Amino acid sequence: MKATIQPVRRNLEFNLPKERIGDWHAGGAHISHFFNALSIFFPDGERFFIDSVRHYRDRIKDGELKQSVRGFIGQEAMHGREHEEYNDALVEKGLPADRYGRIVVGLLKFFSKFTPKASQLAGTIALEHLTAILAHMVLSNPRFLEGAEPRYGALWKWHAMEETEHKAVAYDLYQQVLGGGILGYIQRCTALIMATTIFWIMVIPFHIGLVRKDGQLFNIAGWVKAMNFLWGSPGFLRGTILPWLDYFKPGFHPWDHDNAHYLDGIDSLVDQVNTFSDDTSGASAAA
Ligand SMILES: [Fe+2]
Ligand SMILES: [Fe+2]
Repeated sequence: MKATIQPVRRNLEFNLPKERIGDWHAGGAHISHFFNALSIFFPDGERFFIDSVRHYRDRIKDGELKQSVRGFIGQEAMHGREHEEYNDALVEKGLPADRYGRIVVGLLKFFSKFTPKASQLAGTIALEHLTAILAHMVLSNPRFLEGAEPRYGALWKWHAMEETEHKAVAYDLYQQVLGGGILGYIQRCTALIMATTIFWIMVIPFHIGLVRKDGQLFNIAGWVKAMNFLWGSPGFLRGTILPWLDYFKPGFHPWDHDNAHYLDGIDSLVDQVNTFSDDTSGASAAA
């Protein structure tokens, strides 16, 4: 099943209350810092996605896909901008997000310089699959963001909705310009295994490092709560295992998993965020 959805660039500003960066999630510091560790990857990761897609843009023959690529680039640019502000809040709190960010940049520069453009696009669609299945988890169960500080909660929900909205764009581009044959299949599957391994090898120490620097390393109750959130009930990461495996089906397409109904609430979310932007007192007065 393939939904025809055109991603729309939405220029939203969240004016995050920076002093809440360490405990914006209702589950406390350990769960907040799990999401914070993910945020460290976004600004530069998304620039990498934009560059790898842009490289093939001129080869697209299909007008609809051309328009989707424009929307994809616009959305990722907005995500990068808002996550830069988000990550600044980590740095202001004295957490090592800038140092971790430089590690991400170094790795992406290495891939940009030493791997073929086709591998970079394969890496992009693999990471887009990872973000799409994580986004699905955010949207599928309100418990994952229940009680979160409203601006942080809205930012994660907005990002998850737009990741869902554009989840097939880079994939369709890959199929169109590099082909869906056996070599294309092997390359995209290899890229998912590599991207997943490298991503979690970095996320885990970043998560522990943020918690440690925040003085919560030996808060065992916090770790138990976070492990339960991720792997127990509701199981934020546990729920991604089967959708992750779907990628290895030879005829896989991101919209096989049609979760487009989660986009129904996007206009009301935009309205909510616009009231945040108008009301600067909430963010600045609290800061
Ligand atoms: Fe994004
Ligand atoms: Fe994306």
